[in-house]
Amino acid sequence: MLELKGVTYKIPGEDKEIIKGVDLTFEQGKFYAITGPNGGGKTSLAKLIMGIYKPSSGSITFKGEDITNLEINERSKKGIGYAFQYPPRFKGLRVIDLLQLASEIEERKVVRGYLRQVGLCPEDYLDRDADASLSGGEMKRIEIATLLGKNPEFTIYDEPDAGVDLWSFDLLLNVIKQKHEKEGLTTVLISHQERILELVDEIVLIVGGKIQDVGTKERIWPIIKDVVGCQWYKVCRGDVEDEAECRR
Ligand SMILES: Nc1ncnc2c1ncn2[C@@H]1O[C@H](COP(=O)(O)OP(=O)(O)O)[C@@H](O)[C@H]1O
Ligand SMILES: [Mg+2]
Repeated sequence: MLELKGVTYKIPGEDKEIIKGVDLTFEQGKFYAITGPNGGGKTSLAKLIMGIYKPSSGSITFKGEDITNLEINERSKKGIGYAFQYPPRFKGLRVIDLLQLASEIEERKVVRGYLRQVGLCPEDYLDRDADASLSGGEMKRIEIATLLGKNPEFTIYDEPDAGVDLWSFDLLLNVIKQKHEKEGLTTVLISHQERILELVDEIVLIVGGKIQDVGTKERIWPIIKDVVGCQWYKVCRGDVEDEAECRR
């Protein structure tokens, strides 16, 4: 459904390559997790898919169409959605404005329903400014509510648990899961949580800007610790040539 071929990303004006030749295919209807150590390239990969970053080389196709050069709003119209790791705040916009803009639905009643689904009382939040006065966890939930309204076919949630309390996160995870199952969407969760990795069909492990492996939890889980430890050796000591040696 969505395919990356040889995708590389260099920070503009710098030599540093943070995504290195990624080949990756997401199949329609599947539930994925992307995991890996901090700084591994998970958010950058999501931003490349959403069009926030443009690849330095390589291509991205969505439902057979080359979208490599499309802007964020064009990709959004085609059915790609992204929930930020750190959602931006919007000075001068209220929560209801955000929800109405995203869903293109004016009806207050419908929009209220999205907020309820993510565990926020519409009475308390609809007319509040979507600015820095909202906590990180509140903003994450509001952002997920906007995606419920927008209903993209392919959605990436970037660390949806970050800043969200355990009880609310259970609720969010259920909303995401039910939506995925009911509507046959393709869903990607960026996460480190074992219970998320348990939930998905496939796990993508990304380390140092490269796809290390893709597979089920049974296959990926045992290598996660090895790989993360190994990367630390490579980076901090610089004395380990290859992974096999590192694992010994
Ligand atoms: N705009 C940027 N400018 C400079 N460095 C960046 C930028 N975006 C990402 N990086 C660097 O690229 C690496 C990957 O970052 P990121 O994709 O956010 O990792 P993850 O989400 O896996 O923690 C990190 O070392 C990060 O500091
Ligand atoms: Mg990240």
